Amino acid sequence: MSFVAHRFAGCTVIVTGGGAGIGRATVERLVAEGARVIAVDVFSERLALLTDEVQGDITAVVADITEPASTDRILEAAGPRIDGLANVAGIMDGFEPTAEIADETWDRVLAVNLTAMMRLTRAVLPSMLDRGAGSIVNVGSEAGQRGSAAGTPYTTSKHAVNGFTTSTAFFYTPKGVRCNAVAPGPVATSIEAPFRSEWAGQRLGPLFQTNIPPVARPEELAAAITWLLSDDASNVSGAILAVDGGWASI
Ligand SMILES: NC(=O)c1ccc[n+]([C@@H]2O[C@H](COP(=O)([O-])OP(=O)(O)OC[C@H]3O[C@@H](n4cnc5c(N)ncnc54)[C@H](O)[C@@H]3O)[C@@H](O)[C@H]2O)c1
Repeated sequence: MSFVAHRFAGCTVIVTGGGAGIGRATVERLVAEGARVIAVDVFSERLALLTDEVQGDITAVVADITEPASTDRILEAAGPRIDGLANVAGIMDGFEPTAEIADETWDRVLAVNLTAMMRLTRAVLPSMLDRGAGSIVNVGSEAGQRGSAAGTPYTTSKHAVNGFTTSTAFFYTPKGVRCNAVAPGPVATSIEAPFRSEWAGQRLGPLFQTNIPPVARPEELAAAITWLLSDDASNVSGAILAVDGGWASI
């Protein structure tokens, strides 16, 4: 995969979930293309590894993005100019169908995958609107395209990410701020996806055996995320880009 030298020179980009998987691959590509990156993750050891192993201008912020106070620390680390925000951090559910949802699973999945995304996006918008420029990329999922890719909490959260993305694009594209989402299929990362429901296993198992495309590499998602963050996608806003090996076409 070839990088685009200097594509993000002079730009500051915030990446949540930057310690692992798709977020880490996004950080690596951004710094290789000249960005200054604020990498946010709740897992301090992952951020320590990132800054040890990856050359480039990376400021690590250890934060649980569901805590409202984390937003101030992230903005403080970024400084007054914010060119991009990649809302990558997310967690899975346990493939629970509706009748089997525990309140704490529902609350946590929605808090991480949706509410934290809204708070951080809301917080960076004033800086972007002041300059009349900015790009926000949200990570959705194939589970945001259909009902048969996860449990109900995760599926609900990722459908909501699509609505959040298109609504944000509607309101702010005329003011120079683009907002898009990528919808990955399976990707080889550290995300945990334990099957906690017997009925989900029976219902999803046969579909998973026949319909799922090969597992992608995080770098393949980072390529799409950085493209959407960059000026190369200057005329793209409100898109939900399936980066799923063709799963959405099945
Ligand atoms: N891996 C897949 O197959 C797949 C498929 C579709 C969508 N996605 C989405 O891609 C995104 C990235 O997932 P990944 O697969 O790279 O997973 P990952 O677990 O490898 O990386 C996610 C990172 O987010 C961090 N994180 C989780 N909760 C956080 C919080 N509250 N505050 C700060 N950081 C937090 C984790 O510590 C982790 O380092 C998620 O939104 C996920 O829903 C992944």
